[in-house]
Parts: sequence; structure tokens; C-alpha cells
Amino acid sequence: MTTVHEPAVATTVDELSVWPASTTEPHQGELAVGGVPLAEIADRFGTPAYVLDEGEVRERCRTYRHAFPEADVLYAAKAFLCRAMAHWMDEEGLGLDVCSAGELELAVTTGFPPDRIVLHGNAKSPHDLETALRLGVGRIVIDSPSEIARLAAAVGPDGHQKVMVRVVPGISAGGHEKIRTGTDDQKFGLSVSDGYAQHAIARILDQPQLELTGLHCHLGSQITSVEPYLAAVRRMVDLMARLREQYGVTLPELDLGGGHGIAYRPGEPALDLTALARKVRAELIQACAATGLTVPRLIIEPGRAIAGPAGVALYHVLAVKRTGDRIFVAVDGGMSDNPRPALYGVRYAPRLVGRHGGAEPIAVTVVGRHCEAGDVLATDVELPSDIRPGDLLAVPVAGAYHLSMASGYNLVGRPPVVAVDGGHARLLVRRESMDDIRSRDVGL
Ligand SMILES: Cc1ncc(COP(=O)(O)O)c(C=O)c1O
Repeated sequence: MTTVHEPAVATTVDELSVWPASTTEPHQGELAVGGVPLAEIADRFGTPAYVLDEGEVRERCRTYRHAFPEADVLYAAKAFLCRAMAHWMDEEGLGLDVCSAGELELAVTTGFPPDRIVLHGNAKSPHDLETALRLGVGRIVIDSPSEIARLAAAVGPDGHQKVMVRVVPGISAGGHEKIRTGTDDQKFGLSVSDGYAQHAIARILDQPQLELTGLHCHLGSQITSVEPYLAAVRRMVDLMARLREQYGVTLPELDLGGGHGIAYRPGEPALDLTALARKVRAELIQACAATGLTVPRLIIEPGRAIAGPAGVALYHVLAVKRTGDRIFVAVDGGMSDNPRPALYGVRYAPRLVGRHGGAEPIAVTVVGRHCEAGDVLATDVELPSDIRPGDLLAVPVAGAYHLSMASGYNLVGRPPVVAVDGGHARLLVRRESMDDIRSRDVGL
């Protein structure tokens, strides 16, 4: 069943600044996204559930293409991938960054052109490489020395594969220690400072079946300042210039990865994409001019900034408990659908929806339903003091690294994904059922 709702007046920008642009408040306390009230989605699809605003996803793709007209924009599928998402990316003219045979196979079997896909991975399995070659992936990003011989052998003497090299430029950036990947003290990439990157490049250039198209770096995630990207441009161009001197090669591509930071709560900073595009372009032109290098084609790989703000997680409150000076509001999901607070201490701004919360706000901790004391979804958030079991809570900015990182903990089943657009809601991914779980359990 599809319901089309009357457009309603948007509520104050401040409160809803991290919500999808389509968010409205048709009645006091009720929120609608993509023209569909969240309470109606909860009734129809149950909770926990993830809502994805298709218009917001598409608009974010367009913003990128508009800001970076001369670059290839690849959506980082690890943020969230399903067949509809791959289809939307294709329609919006983006490429894809994948990091497993699974992500690659899902995209290609949905009809995504394989030549617009780049395969990453610090430890690609034989299956990853075999799938990439079988499906004709556009580029493979080499991330360790041993991969060169493995890949060359898999491609075979008469074969041909475009590759890039993931370089560690020695730049520290990113919202949390666990998502910083631009320095030597983490597992990704080949370092410039110890010469591993240069050594790997020399070996690749010796393999006729591997065509080195460019260098890649990814500094980390949740970066809210342009500066680290400019520093990366300088370092990467410097390395490209040295490669030209040493080997006479001019690499045509430079991939700066993703990591563009977004606000999870009103008032938090986000990376300014227009400034990023303008300054990176200027820096690239200037650095290339200084070294006499032809300006390479730029590639960027945003994930979170495309999917994150388009998603909303919906939960029902199951219990409210007062212990000492704390109030715990327990919901019907938790760390199995959103491990990010437990992993990185990320903070969210959940909101009561579906009824008018007129009572005085109080500080509460929103926790999940899992058997783990660290199963906390949001600390120190304000909710109406009469919050009670049965209430509906919505968590904005839930589109990236929630369901893609979801686990099977406690066998509660992973939530469905519901797309909303123009007053219509449709199921993209159904809820994981007990039958799904049982069907994998083949030992008895
Ligand atoms: C190589 C690479 N590119 C792009 C991304 C996307 O990062 P974000 O979602 O922060 O934009 C990641 C994230 O881990 C990555 O590892």
C-alpha cells in the first residue's frame, strides 16, 4: 500500500539540520521523511527499521558531481550497499569503490558497469582477486608487496589489468584513532617514508600485464577540514614527479580516497565540499605546474557523506529504568545494527517521534537490547521526561556504517531497509528472519 501525504511546513532548521532535507513535521511530534511519516513506517515494517531517503542520496550524488565536474566520484560501497543503492549510483553517474568479492558481485550482478568499479582491500583473498578478474573490475588498488606477484600470476602473461597503488602519505587526519589511515602506524597502504611504496611501484612497472594508472591514498574518515587533503595532494604529486624522473612514467590518475566528515548532531562541523573541490583543484594545478607534471584525473571516494545523512534508524522503546542518577531508555535494537558508538564512541541525537513529547526534557542514556553493558546507542541525550515503553525513537544520520557493519549478535535478526521518496515507502532489504538464521545452521 502506498500513501501520498500532503506537503507540510518544515520545522526549524536548527533542530532538523542533520536530518534529510525532505524532513517535515506534519503534526506536532510527528516527523515525516521523503513525505512518509516515520510512525507509519514503524507500523508497516516494524522496528528496528532503517529508513533511507532516496531523494537525499541522489541529491548528495549530484552535489558531488556538481562540485567535482572534472573528477570521477566513486561511492564507497562499504558505507552501505544494496542493489537499489548500486542502481541509484549508476543512474547518478558515480562509480563504485568496493572492498570484497561480495560487494563487487552484488554491484555487477545488479547491472553496475564493472569498469567503473575500483577494488580495495589490505588483504584481498584469492576469491576477491579471482572475482575481480572474472567480472572485469576497472582497477585493483594494490595494498601490499605480495599482491603484485599474485595478481600478475592471476592475470596471466597475455592478460591485462589496470592497477593503482595505495600510498601512505604520512598525514594524520580523521575523527577517531581507529579511522585514521594516512600514517605509518596502521595496516593500510605502502609507505613513502620507508620506500615500500616506491619499491612496489617499480615492481609493478616491471609487470607488462599490469598497467599502473595512478596513485591512491585515503587519509581516514570523518575529516572536517580541507587542509589534510591539500597536504595529501602535495605529497602525492611530489611522488608522481619523482616517479616520472626515475622511470619516465606520467601517471594519469590520482585517487584521494574519501573520508569527508558529516555532522551527526546539530551544530557539529562537516567538511565543506565546495571549498574542498575548489582548493584541491587549485592545489593540484599548482603542484603539477611546479613540477612540470600533467595534471592527473582526480578520483574521490566518498561513502559516509552520501549515505549517512540520508538514513534514519527507528526503534521502539522497550523499557525505561532509573538507576542511581541515570535513566536508561532501552530500545529494540542496539549494537547489532549500530556498532559505531561502541567502536568509536560516536554520539547521536535521537528524537521522540509519533507523539507530542510535551513533558520537560531530561538527560537519558539510550541503550540497546543486547547482552553487553557497552551496548549504548546514545549517551547524555535529552528526551521528554515521560518517555515510556511503546514510544518510537528515531536516530538521524544512520545511513552509513550501521547496517553494513551489522552483526548477528543475540540472533535478533538484522533490520529491514525501507526507501522513502515522494510520499512512497518501499522495502529495499527485508528483515532477517529466524528462517534465514536457521537455514545457515546446518550442523544438526
Ligand atoms: C579506501 C577507502 N575509500 C573510501 C572510504 C570511504 O570513507 P568515508 O565513508 O569516510 O567517506 C574508505 C573508508 O574506509 C576507504 O577505506
